[in-house]
Amino acid sequence: MSLPLITFNFDGSLMEGGITASELDALYPQLEQIRDGMYQQDLREFHEGAEVAADRQPLDAGFMDLPDRMLAGYDEQRESSEIGRILETARRIRESVDRVVVLGIGGSYMGARALMDACCEPYYNELPRADRGGRPRMYFEGNNLDNDAMQGLLHLLRQDDSSAPLGGRWAIVVISKSGGTIETAVALRQFVGELERQFGRDSLAELVIPVTGPAGKLADFADAIGCRDRFLVPEGVGGRFSVFSPVGLLPASILGLDIMALLRGAWLMNGHFQSAAGGENMVLNYVGVNHLLETLRNIDVRVLSVWSKSLETLGLWYDQLFAESVGKQERGATPLTAVNTRDLHSRTQQHQEGVRNKVMNNVAVARPRCDELMVGMQDGDYDKLNELADKSLPELMQAAIDGTNEAYHSDARPTTTITLPQTSEHAMGQVMQMLMLATVAEGRLLGINPYGQPGVEQYKQNMNRILRSGQPIQ
Ligand code: PA5
Repeated sequence: MSLPLITFNFDGSLMEGGITASELDALYPQLEQIRDGMYQQDLREFHEGAEVAADRQPLDAGFMDLPDRMLAGYDEQRESSEIGRILETARRIRESVDRVVVLGIGGSYMGARALMDACCEPYYNELPRADRGGRPRMYFEGNNLDNDAMQGLLHLLRQDDSSAPLGGRWAIVVISKSGGTIETAVALRQFVGELERQFGRDSLAELVIPVTGPAGKLADFADAIGCRDRFLVPEGVGGRFSVFSPVGLLPASILGLDIMALLRGAWLMNGHFQSAAGGENMVLNYVGVNHLLETLRNIDVRVLSVWSKSLETLGLWYDQLFAESVGKQERGATPLTAVNTRDLHSRTQQHQEGVRNKVMNNVAVARPRCDELMVGMQDGDYDKLNELADKSLPELMQAAIDGTNEAYHSDARPTTTITLPQTSEHAMGQVMQMLMLATVAEGRLLGINPYGQPGVEQYKQNMNRILRSGQPIQ
């Protein structure tokens, strides 16, 4: 059975205030050349382990065909493949603990968070185990140095949970490619300490699952405690491009998400990106429209306007992906996530009448996951909604989307729309791979290396100097 594809409609950018079809047509040859270069040069060099020119380093092109390689590996090797191991470890964890704490920051947790929010029930963690499909609750930490937030989770884990189905046991999935990121490392100390206090030193090997590079401080720690299961962040895959490696797949699989559907969605997007010509190619169209709006019309704020609460963290994942990849050499548009209809009551005033520097890239969902709620009749009709009694919430949402786009267009403010058939694993696979490919293509178009994040080093050095100088901290 073939599952429905996401779509990309950019009619709302080919209007007054936007770009023209001929401007976009003129860009297609260059876009196709960049796309071809991503395969014929980037991916080839990555696979051949070729010497890469200094100005092209790092070259983390390994994410491009990662879904294809993961799926092929599973077809060939089943249980002993990477997916086989992820499925098996996820099953072991699901069956042995009530809660999982995922420690990681940036690309090491945002993809998993986005998948949980999009594909699990909204109040998943609040539900009893049976209603969670027998899966553990999941929490994310190690993504900040916030004392009270960390204490809050530790406090929760210290509550007497012995009546929980698995006696309140919990596990840690710690994710850090470098193995040395301070936020994650400090959190690991706290949570490992707590785990040891509650279940003893011998339990650590079973209950701590590291996902890290082949060497480093976290790898050393994993050796020291003899972790039963551990996973590698694949070579040549950068943190923010790693959602389809164990970084995203292990937490997703622990939550019982269909990681095969996720990877097949990404694989489908790869096939589309590689084969569809300029005008038909949703990745190239997304890049082309946004790039021309920026360079020809000074529209350099990209609002990812998501029309589902469950997609807010997809927006935050994309903010990080785009900002760390393209925000270099004093270039690169500014990404911003808005969640609607919530933010119609906070940001839309500015989007509608503020500085003309924004494009609304809508992400809409065609079909809800649950039964549709109707407005319904009410005695008294005090709110005067009885005339809408036979409308459903998805119909109200669609009217809000159409009405908002119409308002933007009437004031010559451009929009585009990505539509997901549903917030499923398959659709998330497609849209995440689309946005990763688009980000790299846009970096190449701007002449910026989309991989690496050299600008993040300065604060780290300063912070280290301040902490280790022996001077009292203000
Ligand atoms: O995209 C990236 O590479 C970064 O956001 C990293 O994911 C982030 O800095 C965390 O790094 P690490 O996984 O090494 O702890």
